[in-house]
Amino acid sequence: MPGSSLGHYLIISTFGESHGVGIGVIVDGIPPGLEISEEVVQKQLNRRKPGQSDITTSRSEADRVKILSGVFEGKSTGTPLAMLLYNSDVRSSDYEGIVKKFRPGHADYTYLKKYGFRDWRGSGRASGRETAARVAAGAIARRWLEERGVSILGFVRSAAGISCKTFDMDYIEKNPMRTCDRIAGQKMEARIRELIEIGDSAGGVIECRINGVPPGLGEPVFDKLEANLGKAILSIGAIRGFEIGAGFRAAEMRGSEHNDQMDSNGFRNNNAGGIIGGISTGQEIVFRAAVKPASSISLPQTTRNTDGETVDISTEGRHDPIICPRVVPVIEAMAAITLMDQWLGYRALRGIDPPNH
Ligand SMILES: Cc1cc2nc3c(=O)[nH]c(=O)nc-3n(C[C@H](O)[C@H](O)[C@H](O)COP(=O)(O)O)c2cc1C
Repeated sequence: MPGSSLGHYLIISTFGESHGVGIGVIVDGIPPGLEISEEVVQKQLNRRKPGQSDITTSRSEADRVKILSGVFEGKSTGTPLAMLLYNSDVRSSDYEGIVKKFRPGHADYTYLKKYGFRDWRGSGRASGRETAARVAAGAIARRWLEERGVSILGFVRSAAGISCKTFDMDYIEKNPMRTCDRIAGQKMEARIRELIEIGDSAGGVIECRINGVPPGLGEPVFDKLEANLGKAILSIGAIRGFEIGAGFRAAEMRGSEHNDQMDSNGFRNNNAGGIIGGISTGQEIVFRAAVKPASSISLPQTTRNTDGETVDISTEGRHDPIICPRVVPVIEAMAAITLMDQWLGYRALRGIDPPNH
């Protein structure tokens, strides 16, 4: 499997490299009649695009989407929907210094070993830019889910070693860290500015909360909802961990503590994160993803070159000192794509929508 496609009933295939002509996606399986416009897609792309603040990369991509097919008179036709974003702010010369060097933490070494040669310009297909195509596809899935009462909210739960203590939903899209706690957010920004000064980077944890998902989504055993969500999220560059509900904390809890007891009103708590046995319970779906610190840093490090010599490396170019705020819309997009795929799967097998909808 070449690995650029995802899904069974809603199938997305992304293409393009960071410094090539452009980045794009083909989305197949969208039911006909869904209202779609470039504006709907653009709104989500603007949340991911570079240059949103002084704590993200200064690369200036307009990220203007063009819908090439699959829409007629503002509605999906049911045929493959293709979207394209041209690359404009390309400075491949920034990467000339790494043509023969393997950047620590980046995909240079593995791409070369696998393919025998690699597109070193802007990291090629391993660039975070590839995720713009996912966000474009996710905007369509999100729109379809919204019509069915599903809402998806992602935010930065911790970054640069600083964790949120409070949750203010309205604050999330109003601050460059996309975090939920004003005080923690200010501390994160200050810490990241310090790291920019010394040429280093930081990681963090993103939480995603999904409401309005009916019970019944997910296909045991290999297409469990959490398994498919995990795959979709772990396929994003720089994601190093995935947990659902109580997640890794569950390993330290007792059964009596972890069990989501039920009564006549339904579930009493949600340690399962809204999924049991691979099937949605109808509760809020809650998962978290660990984002590593961006590997491209200007602090000098040691690596190997293609001749097998030990050499110094310091990454030039425009990079994100913290990836987390820009990854939030990517995570939401991958969650939307996965949920719509499983919903369409439910329909395909049973001929009806999931219950309570
Ligand atoms: C939105 C986004 C932006 C990214 N920006 C950078 C960056 O500026 N510098 C960098 O080294 N990695 C960046 N990455 C991460 C790399 O794409 C990723 O580390 C690389 O493909 C290797 O994959 P892995 O970390 O999953 O093993 C970004 C990822 C995303 C999703």
